[in-house]
Amino acid sequence: MRKACFLLGVSLFASAPACSSDSGRVSAEKDDDFPLPLASGMAPLPPMGWNSWNKFQCNISEDFIKRTADAMVSTGMKDAGYQYINIDDCWSIESAARDANGALQPDPTRFPNGIKPIADYVHGLGLKMGIYGDRGSETCGHRAGSGGHEAQDAATFASWGIEYLKYDNCPDPGPNPGPTIQPEYQAMRDALDATDAPIVFSICAWSFYEWANHMGNLQRTTGDIKNEWPSIVANLKTNQNVAAYAGPNHWNDPDMLEVGNSDNGAGPVTDVENQSHFSLWAIASAPLIAGNNLFDPNMSAATKSILTNKEVIAINQDAMGLQGVRIWENGGQSLWGKPLNANGARAAVLFNEGDSAVDMTVKFADLGLAPGSATVRDLQGQADRGSFKDSYTVNVASHATATLKIVGNEPPRPKGSAFLSDQTPIYAANGLGPVERDTNNGATAAGDGTPIKIRGTAFDKGLGTAAPAAIIYRLGGKCSRFKAQVGVDDATNGQGSVRFQVLADDEVLFDSQTVNGQSAAAAVDVSLVGKRRLKLLVTNGDDGTANDRASWGDAKVECDP
Ligand code: GLA
Repeated sequence: MRKACFLLGVSLFASAPACSSDSGRVSAEKDDDFPLPLASGMAPLPPMGWNSWNKFQCNISEDFIKRTADAMVSTGMKDAGYQYINIDDCWSIESAARDANGALQPDPTRFPNGIKPIADYVHGLGLKMGIYGDRGSETCGHRAGSGGHEAQDAATFASWGIEYLKYDNCPDPGPNPGPTIQPEYQAMRDALDATDAPIVFSICAWSFYEWANHMGNLQRTTGDIKNEWPSIVANLKTNQNVAAYAGPNHWNDPDMLEVGNSDNGAGPVTDVENQSHFSLWAIASAPLIAGNNLFDPNMSAATKSILTNKEVIAINQDAMGLQGVRIWENGGQSLWGKPLNANGARAAVLFNEGDSAVDMTVKFADLGLAPGSATVRDLQGQADRGSFKDSYTVNVASHATATLKIVGNEPPRPKGSAFLSDQTPIYAANGLGPVERDTNNGATAAGDGTPIKIRGTAFDKGLGTAAPAAIIYRLGGKCSRFKAQVGVDDATNGQGSVRFQVLADDEVLFDSQTVNGQSAAAAVDVSLVGKRRLKLLVTNGDDGTANDRASWGDAKVECDP
């Protein structure tokens, strides 16, 4: 197994030993693989809309919901991409009783004409209608839950023209999450499918679950957000841990937006913080579900300009469908990034959690771009900042972000027989510190791994990851095979379990199913002919993340010269 040097030092990966090519130049090969087509399905992009809970809780009514839908149009929110008008808890009667036929009953004091006329009204505005339910016998607001009534309630929602169901987690008495949580969500999944109605399924189970990842179109990864800065930051960080799982039709949801819920910027969350909240939700490909008062003059000009900034929204609604990752964090400053669906394009957010303004630098290599010049556009200010070589530095105020679109050169595609550890990925999410090149994952620090070893066999080359991880390389349709020996690394002393998957252009080419620290290395040998993107995915194998060190021994592609 030979040691090879590679062209680009990229800190998407740890311990990247840069070396130069023969010519000393990196050629900017024209990329032939953009744009990727938009995925099909119920939620190919993170859903955008409005929900009544964060600001209004149970203070809702037919008139209020209709006027909010009107405001969605008149404020320009609809034009900016917001679609769903979602009624949260408290729309049904407080006794939790069902009618003589067992059907859910809208609260006559709030919704005297039921829900269907509101859905019709919302549809008349070119918007979509969403509602709320619960897997147990009661919602968190003590209205009837759908537990045991899934088929009937799904049919009711479909008959009203509902297009989005947020499905909550308030349990029947007993341990939570109890053994019934997964089947209870599955029962509503099946019931929605049986209606044939196009209903987005928003799983609100307050924590990430691997089983929920493809059951819902989005799933809450966090507890309830509060209109407080520490709560917003905490949800952002919790959600980041599971970035590898997100994608079209299965987004991670760090909870709905609090933008505009601070009394016109008077606090507790400032306009600057709300701008950061929005930019960070955007780059995280989080659903953008506003939760503020949309009426004039309650929605301030500052709030409106944050929520309707089409350039920031565009990084959220990008068809690549990747959740931006925190590429580095250093003393309260962090860089977040994700590739966009255009040649050499990356979104980047420089985030300053500190108490004073500071100069922050994004190195283009940190975003998986080739060395050299790139143009920088400030998406908050909607202004070009110019062309810069290798990096861009900007002063970022306390609790603020710089939200940037950076367009440079894609890294070269692999040539010939190439170890992936010598290539530059365009995306790397990892469960524990950075992905390591030619060692196992170690712990959180970069370069802290030890040699890769799977059941006693050592590998000089390979990738060290920890679940959950996702690494993406561009192939440009010029590669024919991917080979590797994969397994839980011997560093775990026989502990841990993970699942390895290899995808190309979203097609699953290899699936190890769950393997553990005792399993023999599995041989991967798959065709890449015609493929534009290679994605290496590691998930948890359902047992939590401890000891989930997943090593990709001798991970290698065979490509055109
Ligand atoms: C839970 C959810 C919230 C909201 C309330 C309603 O707490 O997480 O988002 O829907 O219930 O009661």
